[in-house]
Amino acid sequence: MRNIQQLLTERLQAILPEADREFGIVQSCQDSKFGDYQASTAMVLGKRDRKPPRELAEKLIAGLELSDLCERPEIAGAGFINFRLKPEFAVRELGAESLFAGPAGKPQNARIAEKPPAESRKIVIDFSSPNIAKPMHVGHIRSTILGDALARIHRFLGNEVIADNHLGDWGTQFGKLLYGYSHFLDDAALAADPLGELERLYKVANDLCEKDESVLDACRKELALLQRGNPDRLELWKTFTTVSWQAFTKIYDRLGVTFDEHLGESFYNDQLEEVISELKLKKIAEESEGALCIFFREIASLNDKPFLIQKKDGAALYATTDLATLKYRIKRWNPDEIIYVTDGRQQLHFQQLFTAAERWLAGVDWAPARRPKLSHVWFGSILGEDKRPLKTRTGDPIRLSDLLDEAEARAYLLVNEKNPDLSQDERKGIARAVGIGAVKYADLAQDRVRDYVFDWSKLLAFKGNTAPYLLYAVVRIESIYRKDRTLNSELRTQNTLSLKELEEIDLAKAILKFPEVVQASADDHRPHHLCFYLYNLAEKFSGFYENCPVLQSSGAIRESRLALCQKTAEVMRQGLYLLGIETVERM
Ligand code: ARG
Repeated sequence: MRNIQQLLTERLQAILPEADREFGIVQSCQDSKFGDYQASTAMVLGKRDRKPPRELAEKLIAGLELSDLCERPEIAGAGFINFRLKPEFAVRELGAESLFAGPAGKPQNARIAEKPPAESRKIVIDFSSPNIAKPMHVGHIRSTILGDALARIHRFLGNEVIADNHLGDWGTQFGKLLYGYSHFLDDAALAADPLGELERLYKVANDLCEKDESVLDACRKELALLQRGNPDRLELWKTFTTVSWQAFTKIYDRLGVTFDEHLGESFYNDQLEEVISELKLKKIAEESEGALCIFFREIASLNDKPFLIQKKDGAALYATTDLATLKYRIKRWNPDEIIYVTDGRQQLHFQQLFTAAERWLAGVDWAPARRPKLSHVWFGSILGEDKRPLKTRTGDPIRLSDLLDEAEARAYLLVNEKNPDLSQDERKGIARAVGIGAVKYADLAQDRVRDYVFDWSKLLAFKGNTAPYLLYAVVRIESIYRKDRTLNSELRTQNTLSLKELEEIDLAKAILKFPEVVQASADDHRPHHLCFYLYNLAEKFSGFYENCPVLQSSGAIRESRLALCQKTAEVMRQGLYLLGIETVERM
């Protein structure tokens, strides 16, 4: 599928002088009354050059070669150029056997179009990144779901993605955990719920530290032993890591999330020293009260917020590890972009990291001339119905695994009600897809920077912008063409589309917008654009289906409408796939 918005933009830019090309962007129209696409080029250039915009627009239109795509563009208002696609163009464009490469209709990691390797970008996405020896809490859900959707979207656009889970597997907390483990371990509890037990042991030790100086001292000693590489302590720490990774893997499997790497913070331990000396040598970091800091004196918002990279006692920090990680990633992958997906509370950290990196990379020989773009993709909190961060009744953070269990259980009740005649196994399978899909979709459908209220009844509703609504829409659309025996759910090999009714044309044009919406979701790091699009597409489909009988019509019209159903379902499935949402055959 081609990106029509981009196609129009290219045509418009082709007739502009090089220097003005940036003003030749064509945008999608919100209201189809005015057309399908729109450009404000004539207005911008008119204002700049003090020329009447409508006259400029007239000139541009005269020079544009668009007859294969659009009707003659119209001028509206102060000088907007409006483009309306020809139905014949939509017919041709959608006529291909399958809209996406690969086995007919099967959503996959397939690329939207083969990209010449030179245009493919290499992107490291640092996401999920939970801390070991603790159960994953709902706070990690957004990073995991959002990061995975971004990875899928970028791969689909033809980019190379390295999904890297930057596990929090090193830090001062391990002194207390080691102490707790050697004094209070409950073997049975460890076997039953390893992460729960490790979390409890940490808490027990932590509480004791507050009351008893000698315990605090003992914990410090444990930490020092671990940091100096004492074999027993290292062995235990490895157990913590293994046990944690096993538990995390269960959750990732449930969510269908995969990684290319999971180099945790500890992986960079032996690279910290070098980074610190480099920063000292280049005078990027300086000593302050015994510690080592990077100051940002010339930046008003950061001038009183130094980036601490080494404490008085010589210990490195989260920041130091992130600097070493950056160096490693550049040397290993030389990426075009690195995307960090975390909570909004880490905004300051990443602002400091990116600013420090800019200076650092300018003066080192290992950094490529074209430095990677660094993006912090942050998100707001998930709130309970009381509008406060989501917690259990006892005030503890909610475990992700419990949340997913509840989602499946609630979805099972709904599926039972709707499909009493399906087998138990089938109902369970559907409930899993709907439950997990609903949790993911509720998260992705929000603009990520907003907090959102987690409300079971809303996210599992069959009406509105929800996963159950979209999953059900796909099932319903597919059931239409499944009923047609001749079609036999195989995609047509010939182009049978002919678009006459308004609703048919509208739906076809909506399908055509898929690539540009995926692109916008990637550019903006905001998959909610795609969610909103899919919801809209499902609504458009309803409009079409109400007004244009499909199975009751006959001949070429019936063929065309069946094909339109198929194309809609194909895009819906692919879109849901990009969001990491599994579709179902029945519901
Ligand atoms: N482990 C951290 C946390 O749970 C997130 C790490 C994010 N990635 C990074 N490179 N700092 O808050």
